[in-house]
Amino acid sequence: MRDDTGAGVRAVGEDGDGERRGLPEARVRGDGGKREYGGKPSGSASPGGHGRADPTGGGSSHGGPSGDGERRDAPREDGRRRGSPPAVGLRGVRVRFRSRQREVTALTDVSLDVAAGEFIAIVGPSGCGKSTLLKLLAGLLTPTSGEVLLHGEPVRGPRHDIGFVFQRAALLEWRSARRNILLQAEMRRMPGGRARRRADELIAMTGLAGFEDAYPHELSGGMQQRVALCRALLHQPPVLLMDEPFGALDALTREQMNRELNRVWRETGTTVLLVTHSISEACYLADRVVVMSPRPGTVTEVIEMGLAPERDYTQTMGRPEFARATSRVRALLGGARGN
Ligand SMILES: Nc1ncnc2c1ncn2[C@@H]1O[C@H](COP(=O)(O)OP(=O)(O)OP(=O)(O)O)[C@@H](O)[C@H]1O
Ligand SMILES: [Mg+2]
Repeated sequence: MRDDTGAGVRAVGEDGDGERRGLPEARVRGDGGKREYGGKPSGSASPGGHGRADPTGGGSSHGGPSGDGERRDAPREDGRRRGSPPAVGLRGVRVRFRSRQREVTALTDVSLDVAAGEFIAIVGPSGCGKSTLLKLLAGLLTPTSGEVLLHGEPVRGPRHDIGFVFQRAALLEWRSARRNILLQAEMRRMPGGRARRRADELIAMTGLAGFEDAYPHELSGGMQQRVALCRALLHQPPVLLMDEPFGALDALTREQMNRELNRVWRETGTTVLLVTHSISEACYLADRVVVMSPRPGTVTEVIEMGLAPERDYTQTMGRPEFARATSRVRALLGGARGN
């Protein structure tokens, strides 16, 4: 598989050695400016709160359609209230890159907690550190300072218990859709029978049935991204990271993928962090939209969408609170020039 993850890249430490230093006090930035746009009952302190009953978001308990069959149609208790750590924790994170030519502070003072099963969309100007943020969570980068936690544990190296979907599907041309999906199992030495059953479930869930044996060049862009999504979900990761996964798709296919991602998220219970440049995509899919500032990127505002997990695309887009949320994000991003 082509590696466009930037794996192995290290951000410099405050003292240039990549070590973590004194940790700032934990807090959730943007809470001061947190806004709720949906119809959730007021007084909900949930940082999302639509996750499955399993507060750990732990791997094998995340059954797909063949799991416990529970649908995520009702708001649930969130992990934080149950005393378990958030699925994702960022505490005062700063990332500075240094090369011979230049020094760039990509992120500064980024703090955020994400509950198990929550869907977070991250928007911000180009170059504000969104991809850097996902790479930190995947353990592909070390922060210059601050703390990156998955399920309460510091991330200390490349993580195998996450799924990652990139802007380009990065499929192997000589492998069928099914065998591209199963690549994940081979890399992780998953038992063959279980992997094949899971692949079949995902193929059905993402509407790829009938195309299992097609090669990438025989698939549309949207289908290729679905294969990439299936591959990322094969090992039932509790956390799925997506970096502009639909950026290369036409508007209609993107809309369809948005609907499908919402369904896959509900059916798997995975915690999702999605980086996108599409404001409407962010507001439709997310429990909370994290708006970032221009570089050095930090959290400017967190917008609570308050939508029910199952949401009709057209109806949601037509709701006044949806329009208010998208306007707010647009206003925050307006004037924010990226590079
Ligand atoms: N490995 C690296 N070495 C040096 N600088 C880097 C590295 N990775 C990222 N940067 C710098 O860090 C900053 C943030 O980059 P990043 O890719 O995270 O931005 P982004 O928000 O994902 O942008 P875009 O929306 O264009 O994808 C940029 O200025 C970039 O040049
Ligand atoms: Mg990026």
